[in-house]
Amino acid sequence: MKPRDAQQFDVVIIGGGAAGLMCAIEAGRRGRRVLVLEKAEKCGKKILISGGGRCNFTNHFAAPDRFISDNPHYCKSALRQYTQSDFLALVERHGIAWHEKKLGQLFCDRSAEEIVAMLEHECAAANVTIWRGAGAENIRREDGRFTVKAGGRQIGAESVVIATGGLSIPKLGATDFAYRAAKDFGLPMATPRPGLVPLTFGTGDKARFANLSGVSADVEIRFAKARFRENLLFTHRGLSGPAILQISSFWEAGKPVEIDFLPDLDLASRLKEQRKVAPKMKIATLLREHLANRLVDALLQPFGELPELGNCSDRLIADIVNGIKLVKVFPTGTEGYAKAEVTVGGVSTAALDSKTMACRDVPGLFVIGEAVDVTGFLGGYNFQWAWSSGYVAGQYA
Ligand code: FDA
Repeated sequence: MKPRDAQQFDVVIIGGGAAGLMCAIEAGRRGRRVLVLEKAEKCGKKILISGGGRCNFTNHFAAPDRFISDNPHYCKSALRQYTQSDFLALVERHGIAWHEKKLGQLFCDRSAEEIVAMLEHECAAANVTIWRGAGAENIRREDGRFTVKAGGRQIGAESVVIATGGLSIPKLGATDFAYRAAKDFGLPMATPRPGLVPLTFGTGDKARFANLSGVSADVEIRFAKARFRENLLFTHRGLSGPAILQISSFWEAGKPVEIDFLPDLDLASRLKEQRKVAPKMKIATLLREHLANRLVDALLQPFGELPELGNCSDRLIADIVNGIKLVKVFPTGTEGYAKAEVTVGGVSTAALDSKTMACRDVPGLFVIGEAVDVTGFLGGYNFQWAWSSGYVAGQYA
């Protein structure tokens, strides 16, 4: 039975971000009557601010091992069905100039606005209807059909796609809609937490690294089995930069992260060699060849006054090497959703079919993008997940 006065569509997509718009294009191309409900006054706000306004829209190296999830296999099918090359071909068809920055990260040459314009153009070509400023309040299912309530209106649909993203950056309009809907439909959740986010210092580390705000270093950072080789930046509250953002998605409260400040240098051999050829040399002098002065002072501070190299024992050298290459920092927390690029966790993949993105127990309901417990590394992977999962749901919704 169709609710009286409800406007009818085949597919209602809730959320006009990266995943929702991609899904709309694909469902529309199949001839489905598609409505996108977007709470904000414009679509794709996160696309617009991403990559410093140039949108790191995918990564040459997108592959399942660049994603975090309770089920690391879940993302495989979607990433295969719609690859980074597929998205790049779309970008090129629209004449959007792009470049590879580093580590396979692809950015627009000009502006992220071109990506949103491309998606909106494709939506128009596929006869997709978009209502902006139309936040969905709830989804009901009765007799095999859905009714979505938005802005006082009831909208009927055969399929509903939840594409409302995660909790990061509330001031851009992030909502917990996906999680509330998951609860309403009895879908399990992987507990959400901020990811790709700066970490904050505890008092001990704060005192030690207090003067380093603004200093950066090319480091290897480790937590459990995760390791990244990227830049680290000291801030007045703690640690940031790509290395920290990457490791933050893995970090568990109460545990340290480990930093190698000279990942390319066999420091023990170098110090022992110099001990022979330059016994009067200070260890700090050697380290200053590679690291900022203030960072060297902070790292050597626990050792107090150090003798000249010629008078350093093997034991002391080993301790100093550990003090540079195995530095344990105990973050007290993260800077939270206000600064997080993504939400780790979300609607559990256990409830979803990896080949279609459909809920196993609720026919016609789909969940895609960041709302799902699939989180990419930094570097264009999260958008690739949005494109891939959106594309797949668009084939079945
Ligand atoms: P997304 O959040 O994009 O879209 C969800 C949409 O749903 C929003 O438009 C929201 O307004 C709408 N919505 C929410 N509740 C609603 C409701 N009740 N009714 C209707 N609409 C509702 N990734 C990457 O790969 N490369 C990059 O360069 C960056 N850069 C970056 C910078 C910053 C500052 C942030 C915060 C994030 C990134 N990211 C990124 C991550 C990337 O932006 C993110 O993973 C994707 O936008 C997720 O796409 P979704 O479509 O799932 O959610």
